[in-house]
Amino acid sequence: MTKPLVAGNWKMHGNANTAAELATHLALHDSAFVGVEVVIFPPAVHLDRVITAAASSMVSVGAQNMSQWASGAYTGEVSGEMLNDIGCDYVLVGHSERRALFAESNQVVAEKFKAAQQQGLTPILCVGESLQQHQQGQTVKVVTEQIAAVTDLVGTKSLCKGVIAYEPVWAIGTGEVASPEQAQAVHTEIRSQLGSQGANTRIIYGGSVNATNAGALFAQPDIDGGLVGGASLEANEFLKIAQLMVQG
Ligand code: 13P
Repeated sequence: MTKPLVAGNWKMHGNANTAAELATHLALHDSAFVGVEVVIFPPAVHLDRVITAAASSMVSVGAQNMSQWASGAYTGEVSGEMLNDIGCDYVLVGHSERRALFAESNQVVAEKFKAAQQQGLTPILCVGESLQQHQQGQTVKVVTEQIAAVTDLVGTKSLCKGVIAYEPVWAIGTGEVASPEQAQAVHTEIRSQLGSQGANTRIIYGGSVNATNAGALFAQPDIDGGLVGGASLEANEFLKIAQLMVQG
């Protein structure tokens, strides 16, 4: 079984000092999460210092986004190769905020997933339905389409080498966490779509995860970790969440 994974998405928060402090604190306490892989996703401008602060610890570092293109005249963009070059291991692709606020289509997300793997990074594919889609019972349809766009481009085998994060949009930043049973049901559905190749693929849950609710989520058989937003900005809260995955 692949190691479970607990990831911290810092989004657009903090400054150079707080980023280095948070990474240093986690790196110093990395013995707390033997048995679980911990990855932090700082803002792009802080990646370099966070990678330095986390060097020689068990904390891995990833980027929150990347370009689907390898290089060229794409002002403002950062390629997977550049991220790999400075020491990133992971990249988030298709976070719901990128889909909703920056108009990233399923196709663009799939291209980013492919580029990430080609450029030596492990992509974490984020999928999930909006509140309206949730209320209309369209969760499985939406998630299936988001996943199919990636399998159509790279194939199931490549998708299974990445990580999938189920993040219901209605649970992100709202305090309205999905119940363990709700999340497990969607994770089971995703795993069944991956077939036998997906038996060891990590499918992690995101959306209002904190140290109080993480234990019950992580106890579910198909929840292989968490993608944590707000609570990952608090070093001790994030450490507690990671430890709950160790115990789960
Ligand atoms: P919150 O944990 O703040 O709800 O954010 C979840 C998320 O979007 C992680 O990528």
